[in-house]
Parts: sequence; structure tokens; C-alpha cells
Amino acid sequence: MASSRRNLQQVREVISSAHKDCEPAQKLQFYDQWAQEYEEDVSVLEYNAPRLAASALASMYISDQESKLVLDVACGTGLVAQELRRYGFGLFHGVDGSKGMLQVAKNKNVYQELKQCMLGQEPLPFPTDTYDAVVIVGALSDGQAPVSVIPELVRVTKSGGFLCLTTRSNRSNLQYKAELECELTALQKSGLCECVAIHNVEDWEKATSEQEAQGNADYIPGVIYLYKKRMSIPLPD
Ligand SMILES: C[S@@+](CC[C@H](N)C(=O)[O-])C[C@H]1O[C@@H](n2cnc3c(N)ncnc32)[C@H](O)[C@@H]1O
Repeated sequence: MASSRRNLQQVREVISSAHKDCEPAQKLQFYDQWAQEYEEDVSVLEYNAPRLAASALASMYISDQESKLVLDVACGTGLVAQELRRYGFGLFHGVDGSKGMLQVAKNKNVYQELKQCMLGQEPLPFPTDTYDAVVIVGALSDGQAPVSVIPELVRVTKSGGFLCLTTRSNRSNLQYKAELECELTALQKSGLCECVAIHNVEDWEKATSEQEAQGNADYIPGVIYLYKKRMSIPLPD
């Protein structure tokens, strides 16, 4: 039987709509329609980000991973939580703007709680100081989650908890990446969080267009930022 799997060129055409500059609501409609084919398409693209981010976050823990509550922001269909399970994590909440993506994630029974929320336009629907780790993969880029979402990610992280944030480092995302790094520098200066590690990765995913490819590389680079929320120091009586 012939496979209905799209080839790289066809996937590139689909992704070029994902990267198009449009209103956030339109972007989420796009994800709603893409949800059923998303995982097959990103595997053609060799989208390594969930695996790389999970490995970076897991390296922060040496024990008790199963008792750590992780919030997967822009969880999509659940690839990040699935990767984290390989490292022994088992408690996940997820949030995303797309109902279609959330439905695919729900069917996997990996998350104990899933909520819909438009990042950057409304607060995260979770209480302050709740999560041992907060991770966001594949959504910090132009036209998706604005950098103004960062304080919300910090708010819901417990003191002493980790934040794992990723973005792409290809040409078309460099301005967004610079804005993100400004926000992260401000966060560090405020004393609320400390930077624990920054991993630059060459093989984030295959370039989605010839303009995006750098030099002779087939892949575009990406970056993983790991931050730790500082313990709050109780004020003397
Ligand atoms: C490329 S997918 C990444 C999904 C998953 N984290 C992964 O790595 O496979 C981007 C996800 O971000 C979500 N998203 C993009 N912009 C958003 C926004 N402003 N608010 C909420 N979700 C958003 C999309 O619905 C989609 O599920």
C-alpha cells in the first residue's frame, strides 16, 4: 500500500505557513488543522528539539524525577513529555492554544492536566510557585509565543525549580532570539533566576527553506536555555 507520508519538500510547504507572520488566532487555527499530521511531518523534518530539550532538562536531576511536577508550555501533541518520560519523569501538566493539538496530547494519556490558553494574551491558568520544572519547546519564535510570556513562566515555577526554554538560531529568527536574550538577561539581573546552562545545538531540525539553510548545512541551529528560580530568602522578623 502506498504511504501517505509527505516528503521533505511537501513538509517544507506546510511549515512555511506555520512560520508565516499572521495573527496569533490564525496561527492557532493552522495548528488545529495540522494536529493530526504534525508528528509525522516533524519526523520527516528530523525535528530534534523535544529530545534535546528533554535531555538538557533531565541532566539537572539525579534522583526523584518521578515525583517532579513538570509544566509543558505550548505542549502541542505531547512530544516533550514523551521524551521526558524516558528519563523517569511522570507528572505532567500541559498548556497550549490549539484545541486540535491538545486533543492529540489528551489521547496519549501522558498529562494529568491539560488546559487551553493563549500565551502572551492571558495569564497561565495555574497558581504561582507550583511546578518543579517548566519547559517550552518550539513556541518561542516570531508569531508564536511573545517574549512577554517569560515572567509568567517564572511565576508558576517553584523556588529552586528549573526553566527550560528553547528557540531557533536561524537567520529569520535572530531578531526574536535577541529579544528573548534581553528578557533573560533582565531576569538574571533582577535576581529572580540564575542562568545554569546554555546549549547551542547545530541539528535542531532540517532547514525549512533554502534561505533558512546556513552555508552548506542541511540543518538549522537552535539553543536551549536552562534557568533556575532562586530560593526566596525569608525576611527577618
Ligand atoms: C512547533 S509546535 C511545538 C509543540 C511541542 N512543544 C513540540 O515541541 O512538539 C508549537 C506549539 O505552540 C502552540 N502555540 C503557538 N503560539 C501559541 C500561543 N500564542 N499561545 C498558545 N499556544 C501557542 C501551537 O499551538 C503549537 O502546539
